[in-house]
Amino acid sequence: MNGNWIDIGTIDDIPPRGARCVKTPGGKIAVFRTAENEVFAIEDQCPHKGGPLSQGIVHGKSVTCPLHNFVISLESGQALGADEGEVRTIPVRNIDGQLSIMLESLLVAAE
Ligand code: FES
Repeated sequence: MNGNWIDIGTIDDIPPRGARCVKTPGGKIAVFRTAENEVFAIEDQCPHKGGPLSQGIVHGKSVTCPLHNFVISLESGQALGADEGEVRTIPVRNIDGQLSIMLESLLVAAE
């Protein structure tokens, strides 16, 4: 994919099964690290009532919203189970632990 990747630090900045919130011109992005050291980036805003997903609990490749327990897939951004809604997923790149996210996808979606 062409476009601008913006540096967001290293995987060691994120605790295993945790997340950090990155502020970008396109809004807040939650960047998650799974127990398997995979990295996913999605909007830091729950599709239910906007809860901060970066403060949720990571399990497998999903995160549970800290407010009302919606479970969101980190891969698809979709709410799982009986709940409905989705958040945007952001392309994230991991090169030897150095992480970056695709800026264009944020700006286009923010328009
Ligand atoms: S705001 Fe996330 S479940 Fe309600």
